[in-house]
Amino acid sequence: MNGKEIREKFIKFFIKNNHTEFKSSSLVPDDETLLFTTAGMVQMVPFLMREKEIISPRVCSVQKSFRTTDIDDIGSDGRHLTFFEMLGSWSFGDYYKKEAIELAYELLTEEFLLDKEKIWVSIFKGDKDIPKDSESYKYWLDLGLKKERIVELVQDNFWGPTGVEGPCGPSTEIYYDNGEELGCGREDCAPGCDCDRFLEIWNAGVFMEYYKDENGNFSKLPFTNVDTGAGLERLVMVLQDKKSVFDTDLFEPIVSKIKAESSKFNERSCRIIADHIRGISFIISDGIIPQNEHRGYILRRLIRKSLLHAKTLGLKDFFLSELSGVVIDTYSDVYPELSSKRDLVKKILDEEEVKFGKTLDKGLKRLDGLIVKGKISGDNMFLLHDTYGFNIDILRDILKEREIEFSEEDFYKKLNEQKDRSRISSSFTLGKSIEEEFFDYPKTKFIGYDDLRLKDAKVLFVSQGEDEVYFVLDQTPFYAEGGGQVGDRGIVLSNGVEIEVNNVKKTKRGVYIHFGKYKNFSQKLSSEDLVTCIVDKDIREKTSFNHTAVHLLNKAMKIILGDQVVQKGSFIDSEKIRFDFNFDRALSLEEIKTIEDLVNENILKKEDIEVSEKNFEDIKKLGIDLPFEDRYDKNSKLRVVRIGDFSQELCGGTHKGNTSSLGKFKITKQESVSKGIRRVRAVLEY
Ligand code: ALA
Repeated sequence: MNGKEIREKFIKFFIKNNHTEFKSSSLVPDDETLLFTTAGMVQMVPFLMREKEIISPRVCSVQKSFRTTDIDDIGSDGRHLTFFEMLGSWSFGDYYKKEAIELAYELLTEEFLLDKEKIWVSIFKGDKDIPKDSESYKYWLDLGLKKERIVELVQDNFWGPTGVEGPCGPSTEIYYDNGEELGCGREDCAPGCDCDRFLEIWNAGVFMEYYKDENGNFSKLPFTNVDTGAGLERLVMVLQDKKSVFDTDLFEPIVSKIKAESSKFNERSCRIIADHIRGISFIISDGIIPQNEHRGYILRRLIRKSLLHAKTLGLKDFFLSELSGVVIDTYSDVYPELSSKRDLVKKILDEEEVKFGKTLDKGLKRLDGLIVKGKISGDNMFLLHDTYGFNIDILRDILKEREIEFSEEDFYKKLNEQKDRSRISSSFTLGKSIEEEFFDYPKTKFIGYDDLRLKDAKVLFVSQGEDEVYFVLDQTPFYAEGGGQVGDRGIVLSNGVEIEVNNVKKTKRGVYIHFGKYKNFSQKLSSEDLVTCIVDKDIREKTSFNHTAVHLLNKAMKIILGDQVVQKGSFIDSEKIRFDFNFDRALSLEEIKTIEDLVNENILKKEDIEVSEKNFEDIKKLGIDLPFEDRYDKNSKLRVVRIGDFSQELCGGTHKGNTSSLGKFKITKQESVSKGIRRVRAVLEY
């Protein structure tokens, strides 16, 4: 059976079972915060949430999907892809676990005739919040699956909300056993193991019956959904009995052309180009062009990396644009949008090659002279970045490819040195997409420890939808979320523009991204505009007080429960405090009361809150706790927050004034987060 037939058979099977086919939506989702469509469910979210009227309670689709998660590892194995087609089916409140499982099994074993003995499944094992999915377990047994081939997993078998909160539920996945020879040989090797033996081929049902709120609490939804997804390429690999997705007929014309025309063939480079050229062709045909930010950056990165590997393979100039023609020929019958963009894809690829090709040649030549004993220093990596525009992703790839030793940390150190060193940098981790998007922007100057208003900040970047907008300024008084403390809220004004800022995030290197909504639509923000920033003073103040209370709580815990108690995380906004710590049992009522009393005693002492800057070594000498030691930038000065003689902590938060401003501290709830980790929730009462 070829790939096309497999794709069609999947859809036909679900149509026969009363599902309505949905056409693939674009790779560019409506949701601006999502880089690409990563699964078939993306266009189904409004139905899953009952926000849109359900036209058909059973649907299916083949969805163009693109994931950046494994982008650096493409080519190292035969399973992972950036662009792939996802076969999916859904039930919106219609059938549930039993029928979903039966449908999946019937399709695989009776239509695709997969060997039943090679099918393994996993079900959700259960954790402190959600019970084990015993129903799915039973339905698999009823179908005749042997007990030994039903494994119970926790992490891989719970599909969490796509954002902080949202619908979610346990899932059951189907694996194909590729045989012991591809395995790691460990006795406990089973689905969930990292090795190549068990290939996950179908998430045969996320059973969405829960809602997770922002505090991590689960509640039952008033309705149920089934959401399934299978990667077409993997299914084809199994059905065609191939060792890798790149050996299937879906890739055959692409891989053959690369093989035929390369003068120095290697498997990995071939796979990278084969994967990337599909992504490139599909992304461009969905309206994205190469840019230095957001989706355009990912596209540019795919193109540059492909150019690099085309060089490694000794392929002729402008080979990539020729290869895109093969992708378009292979896929246009299913995705007709490709053929109408044939010339555009070719033009963009050729233009990018002209632009980057020369620098790449020069940079690679220069690189040879910068290697000493198989190593390259951070300074020289920076030189390549600065002179030839090699961003870290390209550098990483070139150096790995040539087996040159390097340290990304040294590179970043040098990069940071070049920028404003006066500001204290505390690096709180953020999602990769923001890191990528704002890689080339200068560090934002943060003035918000002292000032809550700022005139004439310059807009360096802006991206906007109808009413939503996010932007980067050269300087800002807005605190970016970090150290448990939420980002500031407030207003940004400029010549008729009024934006309500509702969150601020920062990249590891300190670029602040302000997220907001337009309050009127007459005028929009543009790059180079000068703006006035006003942080909401009340919210900031309450948040700062809560943060100070967290420091008092941290210290009080150590005094009452013992020095071994270490903070494991926190969430602080203007209304509430959440504090996680390592402890292996619930606190007694007396312990809670004593902790509260100790915190309140220090609030009533009217202690001054002092902030100073110290270097890392001095901080160590002072014996200050460093619970997140690997997160601090040890070369910059760090902030130490001291509350009287009671507490001293390393912190980037916005503490100020005197503890007398704080309300009465009260612990409202305690709970368990995971084994050995407890959580308390608390408030300041005024
Ligand atoms: N949404 C689920 C997945 O992508 C089915 O695995």
